[in-house]
Amino acid sequence: MIRLEHGNGSGFKEARIFPILDLTIGKSHGKRDKKWITLKQNIMKIVTGMVETNRQGVAKVLAKNLADETVLYIKTKKAHWHVEGADFYDKHKFFEFQFKQLDEIMDSVAERIRSIGHYAPATLKSYLNLTHLTESESERNDSQGFIKELLADHERIIIDLRGHIKSFTDDFHDAGSSDFITSLMITHEKMAWFLRSHLTK
Ligand SMILES: [Fe+2]
Repeated sequence: MIRLEHGNGSGFKEARIFPILDLTIGKSHGKRDKKWITLKQNIMKIVTGMVETNRQGVAKVLAKNLADETVLYIKTKKAHWHVEGADFYDKHKFFEFQFKQLDEIMDSVAERIRSIGHYAPATLKSYLNLTHLTESESERNDSQGFIKELLADHERIIIDLRGHIKSFTDDFHDAGSSDFITSLMITHEKMAWFLRSHLTK
């Protein structure tokens, strides 16, 4: 979260920032809320017709999505590395195709957060705190097991994104981010279809 201090009228001269980890919605942050970091840098005032509280609300949702995308990226990497069985090479390449898509998604979500004037979470610790997903503990390395788990994660993300499309426009007046997560949801729906189509039952 960024709290901007007014400068000399032409823009903002400094931003007091506390770690993005504290973006977690609805949690009590206790004393951490008061640990402000002052960045001495020129930050231009953002004049896009969106008030700061609305940009902040959208950034909180996108930060959680970025955490989900990053955890899913690592889980898909694990599937690419660990998969074993008669269909090894086919699934090894398939998981590679999907983690490359997730890499592009992560970048686009982080850059959307920057576009609306916020900093994206960028530490593994913050991702684990923000994500809705659970890291895989499975010892099994068969492709069907990986596919089922990854499919469930994509579906979790799709449900989350779908739930924010309307509120981004209605509550935060951010049609751009609403359109952005609609496209993102469609991409996940296609990725989920590809996973689902590999299931044998
Ligand atoms: Fe590889």
